[in-house]
Amino acid sequence: MIEIRKAKLSDAERIVELQIQMAFESEQLRLNRDIVTRGVRGVFEEPSRGTYWVAEEKDEILGVFMAIPEWSDWRNGTVLWIHSLYVVPRARRRGVFKKMYLNLKQQVAQSPELIGLRLYVDKRNKTAQTVYEKLGMNKEHYELYEWLK
Ligand SMILES: CC(C)(COP(=O)(O)OP(=O)(O)OC[C@H]1O[C@@H](n2cnc3c(N)ncnc32)[C@H](O)[C@@H]1OP(=O)(O)O)[C@@H](O)C(=O)NCCC(=O)NCCS
Repeated sequence: MIEIRKAKLSDAERIVELQIQMAFESEQLRLNRDIVTRGVRGVFEEPSRGTYWVAEEKDEILGVFMAIPEWSDWRNGTVLWIHSLYVVPRARRRGVFKKMYLNLKQQVAQSPELIGLRLYVDKRNKTAQTVYEKLGMNKEHYELYEWLK
Protein backbone atom coordinates (compact mmCIF):
# COMPACT_ATOMS: atom_id res chain seq x y z
CA MET A 1 0.00 0.00 0.00
CA ILE A 2 1.56 3.29 -1.12
CA GLU A 3 1.09 6.24 1.20
CA ILE A 4 1.53 9.86 0.11
CA ARG A 5 2.61 12.32 2.78
CA LYS A 6 4.56 15.52 3.34
CA ALA A 7 8.21 14.81 4.03
CA LYS A 8 9.76 15.31 7.46
CA LEU A 9 13.27 16.48 8.29
CA SER A 10 14.13 12.86 9.12
CA ASP A 11 13.49 12.02 5.42
CA ALA A 12 16.16 14.50 4.27
CA GLU A 13 18.92 11.91 3.88
CA ARG A 14 16.74 9.68 1.67
CA ILE A 15 15.66 12.68 -0.40
CA VAL A 16 19.33 13.61 -0.93
CA GLU A 17 20.00 10.05 -2.07
CA LEU A 18 17.13 10.16 -4.57
CA GLN A 19 18.24 13.53 -5.99
CA ILE A 20 21.78 12.20 -6.45
CA GLN A 21 20.39 9.12 -8.22
CA MET A 22 18.21 11.26 -10.47
CA ALA A 23 21.08 13.53 -11.55
CA PHE A 24 23.20 10.52 -12.41
CA GLU A 25 20.41 8.70 -14.23
CA SER A 26 19.24 11.67 -16.26
CA GLU A 27 22.48 13.59 -16.92
CA GLN A 28 25.30 11.28 -15.74
CA LEU A 29 26.04 14.10 -13.32
CA ARG A 30 27.69 13.35 -9.97
CA LEU A 31 26.22 15.86 -7.56
CA ASN A 32 28.20 17.00 -4.55
CA ARG A 33 26.54 15.32 -1.56
CA ASP A 34 27.37 18.13 0.90
CA ILE A 35 25.84 20.78 -1.34
CA VAL A 36 22.72 18.71 -2.03
CA THR A 37 22.35 17.94 1.68
CA ARG A 38 22.42 21.65 2.48
CA GLY A 39 20.04 22.29 -0.42
CA VAL A 40 17.52 19.72 0.77
CA ARG A 41 17.78 20.81 4.38
CA GLY A 42 17.29 24.40 3.24
CA VAL A 43 13.76 23.50 2.16
CA PHE A 44 12.87 22.29 5.66
CA GLU A 45 14.56 25.31 7.26
CA GLU A 46 12.64 27.82 5.13
CA PRO A 47 9.16 26.47 4.30
CA SER A 48 8.38 29.32 1.89
CA ARG A 49 10.92 27.66 -0.46
CA GLY A 50 8.62 24.69 -0.97
CA THR A 51 7.34 21.43 0.41
CA TYR A 52 8.63 17.95 -0.29
CA TRP A 53 6.05 15.23 -0.80
CA VAL A 54 7.00 11.57 -0.69
CA ALA A 55 5.44 8.23 -1.64
CA GLU A 56 6.19 5.53 0.88
CA GLU A 57 5.63 1.79 0.93
CA LYS A 58 6.60 -0.45 3.84
CA ASP A 59 8.69 2.33 5.41
CA GLU A 60 10.62 2.93 2.21
CA ILE A 61 10.40 6.16 0.23
CA LEU A 62 9.93 5.27 -3.44
CA GLY A 63 9.17 8.67 -4.90
CA VAL A 64 9.62 12.36 -4.17
CA PHE A 65 8.86 15.81 -5.51
CA MET A 66 8.92 19.34 -4.25
CA ALA A 67 5.93 21.67 -4.63
CA ILE A 68 7.09 25.28 -4.97
CA PRO A 69 4.61 28.18 -4.68
CA GLU A 70 4.54 31.00 -7.21
CA TRP A 71 2.21 33.96 -6.82
CA SER A 72 0.14 35.01 -9.84
CA ASP A 73 -0.99 38.64 -9.75
CA TRP A 74 -3.20 38.12 -12.80
CA ARG A 75 -5.12 35.36 -11.12
CA ASN A 76 -4.70 36.51 -7.53
CA GLY A 77 -3.68 33.05 -6.48
CA THR A 78 -0.79 30.64 -6.10
CA VAL A 79 0.42 28.14 -8.68
CA LEU A 80 2.38 25.15 -7.37
CA TRP A 81 5.37 24.10 -9.45
CA ILE A 82 6.44 20.45 -9.29
CA HIS A 83 10.24 20.13 -9.12
CA SER A 84 12.80 17.44 -8.35
CA LEU A 85 10.44 14.63 -9.30
CA TYR A 86 11.88 11.14 -9.05
CA VAL A 87 10.46 7.65 -8.68
CA VAL A 88 13.00 4.85 -8.11
CA PRO A 89 13.34 2.66 -11.24
CA ARG A 90 11.99 -0.53 -9.67
CA ALA A 91 8.76 1.24 -8.58
CA ARG A 92 7.96 2.83 -11.93
CA ARG A 93 4.77 2.23 -13.88
CA ARG A 94 2.96 1.20 -10.71
CA GLY A 95 1.07 4.48 -10.35
CA VAL A 96 3.40 6.03 -7.75
CA PHE A 97 3.63 9.41 -9.44
CA LYS A 98 -0.03 9.29 -10.43
CA LYS A 99 -0.98 8.93 -6.77
CA MET A 100 1.35 11.79 -5.76
CA TYR A 101 0.03 14.00 -8.56
CA LEU A 102 -3.64 13.32 -7.82
CA ASN A 103 -3.04 14.01 -4.14
CA LEU A 104 -1.52 17.43 -4.92
CA LYS A 105 -4.24 18.16 -7.46
CA GLN A 106 -6.83 17.47 -4.79
CA GLN A 107 -5.10 19.90 -2.41
CA VAL A 108 -5.33 22.56 -5.12
CA ALA A 109 -8.98 21.76 -5.82
CA GLN A 110 -9.85 22.14 -2.13
CA SER A 111 -7.87 25.32 -1.46
CA PRO A 112 -9.34 28.73 -2.35
CA GLU A 113 -5.80 30.13 -2.59
CA LEU A 114 -4.23 27.54 -4.91
CA ILE A 115 -5.08 27.77 -8.60
CA GLY A 116 -3.10 25.13 -10.45
CA LEU A 117 -0.03 23.01 -11.09
CA ARG A 118 2.87 23.59 -13.44
CA LEU A 119 6.17 21.96 -14.23
CA TYR A 120 8.83 22.04 -16.88
CA VAL A 121 10.55 19.09 -18.46
CA ASP A 122 13.67 18.52 -20.54
CA LYS A 123 12.75 18.36 -24.24
CA ARG A 124 14.51 14.98 -24.51
CA ASN A 125 12.58 13.41 -21.62
CA LYS A 126 9.85 11.80 -23.69
CA THR A 127 8.81 9.37 -20.94
CA ALA A 128 7.99 12.14 -18.50
CA GLN A 129 6.17 14.08 -21.22
CA THR A 130 4.00 11.04 -21.98
CA VAL A 131 3.26 10.63 -18.27
CA TYR A 132 2.20 14.28 -17.84
CA GLU A 133 -0.04 14.12 -20.88
CA LYS A 134 -1.64 10.88 -19.67
CA LEU A 135 -2.44 12.64 -16.41
CA GLY A 136 -4.21 15.43 -18.26
CA MET A 137 -1.61 18.20 -18.21
CA ASN A 138 -1.02 20.22 -21.37
CA LYS A 139 1.75 22.40 -22.81
CA GLU A 140 -0.47 24.77 -24.72
CA HIS A 141 0.45 28.05 -23.06
CA TYR A 142 4.17 28.65 -22.63
CA GLU A 143 7.67 28.12 -23.92
CA LEU A 144 10.39 28.33 -21.28
CA TYR A 145 13.33 30.74 -21.67
CA GLU A 146 16.32 30.82 -19.35
CA TRP A 147 19.70 32.33 -18.59
CA LEU A 148 22.00 30.27 -16.40
CA LYS A 149 25.33 31.35 -14.99
C1 LIG B 1 8.40 10.32 -14.87
C2 LIG B 1 8.21 9.43 -13.63
C3 LIG B 1 8.21 10.30 -12.39
C4 LIG B 1 6.86 8.70 -13.74
O1 LIG B 1 6.61 8.03 -12.51
P1 LIG B 1 5.80 6.64 -12.42
O2 LIG B 1 5.47 6.43 -10.98
O3 LIG B 1 6.52 5.57 -13.14
O4 LIG B 1 4.46 7.00 -13.24
P2 LIG B 1 3.03 6.28 -13.05
O5 LIG B 1 3.23 4.82 -12.86
O6 LIG B 1 2.27 7.00 -11.99
O7 LIG B 1 2.36 6.54 -14.47
C5 LIG B 1 1.40 7.57 -14.72
C6 LIG B 1 0.83 7.34 -16.11
O8 LIG B 1 1.86 7.42 -17.09
C7 LIG B 1 2.01 6.18 -17.77
N1 LIG B 1 3.43 5.88 -17.92
C8 LIG B 1 4.37 5.79 -16.95
N2 LIG B 1 5.57 5.49 -17.49
C9 LIG B 1 5.38 5.40 -18.81
C10 LIG B 1 6.25 5.09 -19.89
N3 LIG B 1 7.55 4.83 -19.69
N4 LIG B 1 5.73 5.06 -21.14
C11 LIG B 1 4.42 5.31 -21.36
N5 LIG B 1 3.52 5.60 -20.36
C12 LIG B 1 4.02 5.64 -19.10
C13 LIG B 1 1.35 5.15 -16.88
O9 LIG B 1 0.88 4.05 -17.62
C14 LIG B 1 0.21 5.96 -16.29
O10 LIG B 1 -0.84 6.10 -17.23
P3 LIG B 1 -2.35 5.66 -16.89
O11 LIG B 1 -2.80 6.58 -15.78
O12 LIG B 1 -3.05 5.89 -18.18
O13 LIG B 1 -2.24 4.27 -16.44
C15 LIG B 1 9.35 8.34 -13.55
O14 LIG B 1 9.43 7.68 -14.79
C16 LIG B 1 10.72 8.91 -13.20
O15 LIG B 1 11.05 9.11 -12.03
N6 LIG B 1 11.56 9.15 -14.23
C17 LIG B 1 12.94 9.62 -14.02
C18 LIG B 1 13.00 11.02 -13.46
C19 LIG B 1 12.25 12.01 -14.31
O16 LIG B 1 12.19 11.92 -15.53
N7 LIG B 1 11.66 12.99 -13.63
C20 LIG B 1 10.87 14.02 -14.26
C21 LIG B 1 11.72 15.20 -14.56
S1 LIG B 1 10.73 16.52 -15.28
